[in-house]
Amino acid sequence: MITKTVYGDPIKTDAVTAEVETIPETRHFSVKRGARSLTFTYALAPEDTVYGLGEAMGRLNKRGGRYVSFNTDTGEHEETTPSLYGSHNFLVISGRETFGAFFDTPARTVFEIDWKGSGLIRVECETGDLSLFEIENSTAYGVCRELLAAVGPCYLPPLWAFGYGQSRFGYRDEADFRAVADGYQKNGIPLDYICMDIDYMDKFRDFSFDKKGFPDIAAFSAEMGERGIRLVPIVDAGIKIEPGDPVYEEGVRNGYFCRNKDGGYFRAAVWPGMTHFPDFLNTSAREWFGRQYRFYTDAGIEGFWNDMNEPAIFYSQYTKGWKSVLWQLAMDVLFGEKRREQKERGHIRDLKSFSHNMDGRRLRHYDVHNLFGGMMTRATGEGLRKLLGHRYMLFSRSSYIGANRYGGVWTGDNTSKWEHLMLNVRHSQELNMCGFLYSGADTGGFNGNCTRELLLRWLAFSVFTPLMRNHTGKLTRAQEAYAFGDTEAFRKVISLRYRLLPYIYSEYMKAALTSDMYIKPLEFVYPEARGIEDQILVGDSLMAAPIVQEGAPERQVFLPEDMTEVRYDGNFHCSPAPRGTRTVHMALDEVVFFIRKGKLLPVGPEIQNTREYDPERLTLLGDGESYGLYTDDGIGFDCTMENVRTLRK
Ligand code: GLC
Repeated sequence: MITKTVYGDPIKTDAVTAEVETIPETRHFSVKRGARSLTFTYALAPEDTVYGLGEAMGRLNKRGGRYVSFNTDTGEHEETTPSLYGSHNFLVISGRETFGAFFDTPARTVFEIDWKGSGLIRVECETGDLSLFEIENSTAYGVCRELLAAVGPCYLPPLWAFGYGQSRFGYRDEADFRAVADGYQKNGIPLDYICMDIDYMDKFRDFSFDKKGFPDIAAFSAEMGERGIRLVPIVDAGIKIEPGDPVYEEGVRNGYFCRNKDGGYFRAAVWPGMTHFPDFLNTSAREWFGRQYRFYTDAGIEGFWNDMNEPAIFYSQYTKGWKSVLWQLAMDVLFGEKRREQKERGHIRDLKSFSHNMDGRRLRHYDVHNLFGGMMTRATGEGLRKLLGHRYMLFSRSSYIGANRYGGVWTGDNTSKWEHLMLNVRHSQELNMCGFLYSGADTGGFNGNCTRELLLRWLAFSVFTPLMRNHTGKLTRAQEAYAFGDTEAFRKVISLRYRLLPYIYSEYMKAALTSDMYIKPLEFVYPEARGIEDQILVGDSLMAAPIVQEGAPERQVFLPEDMTEVRYDGNFHCSPAPRGTRTVHMALDEVVFFIRKGKLLPVGPEIQNTREYDPERLTLLGDGESYGLYTDDGIGFDCTMENVRTLRK
């Protein structure tokens, strides 16, 4: 059961679409009013577990932490970083009582959860305007499913978006992209798409191609298409201030950008230098922005990643003065912490200085900050739906609950370190709890240099996340699967993704169509697994138990019931795995996972690309009796549970 309590005068965030009964008082929290803010308090029982918050740092059980919902370009985040790129104000309390609470407010919100041993949940919403949704259900898993149902149908990517993709900040021209395609195809490593980072653009302008690097993008996209490879360009939130540029001119003419207090358009520097921010909270501006993707779809491009949409600001018209980006960077290095604080103050000042026109209602950006990226996803998703008339690939850096109806997310600039592989494992569960089924991290890590071992282990986990993309920064070592000398181990691990495609695609689509999670914590189904964060349930049949430690040839795996162990080394080897704890050895070129008792797992033959996917060529592994295979044309919107047919062993 889900109910809503309204405080102040909240805006329509577009998060929950279901009709929900409104009740006058919260059932679980005590509420205290501040000058502007509202603070909600709940006394935890010692045995309570608190899940949620989607993309946040900390453990799966959020107790003991302080987290701030305030979408931030966090560059290099670490354990104590309070805010990441997305804000997902959803908590699930499980223990003495079990219930969920979604604080639907786009303003900065601070969550202290048993912080410093207080025994309390304390949620401070900076503006007093919000809807609090409370969900009663007997299990944490049930609570999440109710939220997902209330938010509405999850984004459905095309089949090809479940392939493997390569990316790098620094690919410049056609030759670079051909070299990546060659590197994969010559080595027999499957590949479905290559992401185009900002260097494809002319002066880092959205909706432009650098003519030298890409003289005929439609022809190039067709050439790559012949090879089974899609191009996936990045689109940044800010529109470069560039008189003569039709997108810029049209935006200015029609008032589609965010405004300053003096009525002019707010100016902030991002990759292209000074930009204006489209007013994604405004319906006309959103529709206009969505239409711009025609520039790409006309060239046969159907996949995108939306970036810098927290929004990220390098400096603004207020904080810049005469200073260049280089000057700014030098100051960062010279004055470390002091400079960081100063910049943070400047950033807040910036965010307070511009406003939105939400269809007639003027709103200070700072008060609705967390909605910006999610509304960009909506603009793009709605635009692409109209332009293409079929499914598209889309993932965004910033997000808010509800944006999962229009696209997926990736978790931003992580680092090539083992802790961030584990962070990816945790986030995959936490993002699913609030509906972001299509998600993934930069496999191998964005900052820093990845090792062969880390990349292989990371790929062995990414095989299970719907978005499986290897991406890295500009100055890091080459991170493509063919860049580490011998390629055979990489070929094997990435091939597993394609052999699991019948399962991954079916489970994703079924979950999305039934308001279910695609990845869930083991303890959501087996309460005796409480506290185990590094074993996850992927779909209904499979348990993954990745190695997330450097140098570890093996790991302990807890089996809450008898399962089938599957060792993939290029072939599938199944053996019974009795209930209990066992040591599982995994060579670097192997992936070991488990099939739950009484379940089946469909696997296909080795293929090089999702184009070769044939749902008629299947083998069923496991000891179950039947499996519901989802099949469709992989691209149209005709997706219903009627596309599920029962396979029997
Ligand atoms: C941001 C993105 C990263 C991208 C870079 C250049 O840092 O998070 O993925 O490579 O910008 O566009």
